[in-house]
Amino acid sequence: MRKKIIAGNWKMNKTPSEAAELAAAIVKNSAGAGCDVVVCPTAVCLPGVVEKTSGSNVEVGAQNVHFMESGAYTGELAANMLTDIGVKYVIIGHSERRQYFGETDETVNLRTKAALSGGLLPIVCVGESLTERENGVTSETVCRQVKLAFLGIDKADAEKVVIAYEPVWAIGTGKTATAEQADEVCGIIRGTIGSLYGEDAAEKIRIQYGGSMNAGNAAELLSKPNIDGGLIGGASLKADDFDVIVKAAEQN
Ligand code: 13P
Repeated sequence: MRKKIIAGNWKMNKTPSEAAELAAAIVKNSAGAGCDVVVCPTAVCLPGVVEKTSGSNVEVGAQNVHFMESGAYTGELAANMLTDIGVKYVIIGHSERRQYFGETDETVNLRTKAALSGGLLPIVCVGESLTERENGVTSETVCRQVKLAFLGIDKADAEKVVIAYEPVWAIGTGKTATAEQADEVCGIIRGTIGSLYGEDAAEKIRIQYGGSMNAGNAAELLSKPNIDGGLIGGASLKADDFDVIVKAAEQN
C-alpha cells in the first residue's frame, strides 16, 4: 500500500514572513496526518519554513536544484545547500520551468540524478500540452519524459522518486483533468516504470496528480487507484483548502 503524498508548490508566491505564517498554519492543521505532507516555498523562504516545520510531520521541498555540486553557476542552488538546511524534497522539471526557463528532458535527468546523489527526494513533473493531448500523443509524451528523466538511475534510487503527472493545460487554468483521465495517464506512467524497473518498482513508486486540484475535486481524484497524491499550486496557498486536500488523501 503506497502512502499518499500531498505537496504544495507555492511557486513565486509569499514573502518569507508570509511563508512562515502559512507554514505554521499547515503544521497545526496537519498534526497527525495519515499521509506525507510537503510544502515547497521559494528558495529565500526555505530557512524560515524549515524552522516553522521542524519537529512536525510537514516536510519541506525546494522548487529546483542545479545539477553541479558547486562552481560558477550564478543564481543556482546545489543539492547539499538544500540538505544542509533541512530540505528533504525538490520539484524537478515543472512545466513552468520547461516553458519559461529552458528546462529539457536532459536537464531534468541531470537534476534528478544530482538530487538523488545529494540526498534529496525528487518530485519529477511530466505532462502533455493541450496540442499533444488533442493530437493523441499524451501517452508517447509522458512515456518519453519519464524514460528520459530516469536515464542512468538505478532501481533503488528510482523507487525514491515521486512522479507528478501535471497536464500543462490543467495548470492554473481551473480546468482539471477528469479523475478518469488523470488515473489513466498515471497508470501509463506506472506501466512505463514497470517496463524500466519491473512490477515491484511500479507498485512502489508514488505518482501524484497536479493541475487545478482543489478542496472540491481532491477526494474524487485521490480515490483513483493510480493516483497517490497531489501536487497543488493555487489551493496550497490557503491553509484551510490545503487541509481539506490532506484530509481527502487520508480518507482515500
Ligand atoms: P494549480 O494547482 O494552481 O493548477 O498548479 C498546479 C501545479 O502546477 C503544481 O505544481
